[in-house]
Amino acid sequence: MILHAVESLLVTGATGFVGRNLILRAAACGTKIHAPVRNPDKLSACLAEDGLPREGVNALPAEPAKWSGISHAVLCAGVLFARTREEYFSVNVEWTLRILRALPRECRVVLLSSQSAGGPTPAGRTARTEADPDCPITWYGESKRVLEQSVAREFPDRRITILRPPMILGARDSATLPLFKMARGLVRTKPGLRRKWFSYLAVDDVVDAAFASFECPRPGPFYIAATDPISDVELIASAARATGSRGITLRLPLLFIRALAALVDAVPPWRESVPSLTRDRAREIWPDRWVVDASAFRSATGWNHRIGLEEALQSAYGHYSSTGRL
Ligand SMILES: NC(=O)c1ccc[n+]([C@@H]2O[C@H](COP(=O)([O-])OP(=O)(O)OC[C@H]3O[C@@H](n4cnc5c(N)ncnc54)[C@H](OP(=O)(O)O)[C@@H]3O)[C@@H](O)[C@H]2O)c1
Repeated sequence: MILHAVESLLVTGATGFVGRNLILRAAACGTKIHAPVRNPDKLSACLAEDGLPREGVNALPAEPAKWSGISHAVLCAGVLFARTREEYFSVNVEWTLRILRALPRECRVVLLSSQSAGGPTPAGRTARTEADPDCPITWYGESKRVLEQSVAREFPDRRITILRPPMILGARDSATLPLFKMARGLVRTKPGLRRKWFSYLAVDDVVDAAFASFECPRPGPFYIAATDPISDVELIASAARATGSRGITLRLPLLFIRALAALVDAVPPWRESVPSLTRDRAREIWPDRWVVDASAFRSATGWNHRIGLEEALQSAYGHYSSTGRL
């Protein structure tokens, strides 16, 4: 993507994992950046940590007004872990629609949805494609699917492209912190006795895909992913290698994880501290295959992933270490 063509870029989720990486790239190209945020101090702290000048990003109020003079937008904000269905829907659907209504009609928009909007790989198939019927299995996935449907209904003539990334890995994440903490130990655990297979994508490749989408002639939704899937065993082993640790991985029966998820749901402080294990979010743990095929997006844009699993995990671990979180 020729970024000098992007005069002014609005980024939601500017204080989050993907948004921060996107801003770093756009700032390096001299693009004027606008960011609706609910906590300007957090934005300042993120920019300082990333070595960017505070005045390089124009912080806007999180609740949108009518905006003008914005040529491009990437909507990265989202709630990935919440306790109720309403929390997912109020941000992932309602707030995102309010942002879209506030943007100029001609603004070129890229919306980050999720692989979860489609659901796991259909039985008997190696990868899910856009042709497969959607069947999200969590409130998170449902909220992303409803957002996509609402966008298609309310903005049929706007230039909006929707991307459905799988698990994203790289620097400035916080979701993989528990993975690295576990990987550093002598004994690691994985849910299920069988190997589970996933798609993944490095955050720099997500940023590339977002910028490539500005030139995409079709609205999607498109799956984006690295070409080869990975197994959960490989993910844990690669994270352990990144930390320089050696240990063993125990496979826990799914029945045990189900009981744990029920317990986590029943104890409010645990629901707060382990949101990925609430009974709703844990539904994503049961299927054996979360693999998607990104061929349609590759053919539509010429985009391809560049970064492999080891490099993405090294980069995530390097950032946790350099910021004192590990
Ligand atoms: N990370 C992944 O593996 C992954 C995979 C597939 C799809 N996605 C999608 O990619 C997008 C970016 O994910 P991410 O990993 O960057 O998420 P993240 O690190 O959790 O960041 C979420 C961002 O959304 C903002 N946000 C949340 N609720 C908000 C609200 N009510 N009003 C305004 N801003 C709000 C957060 O702001 P605060 O800092 O103020 O909380 C933060 O900047 C999301 O839409 C996600 O669903 C992510």
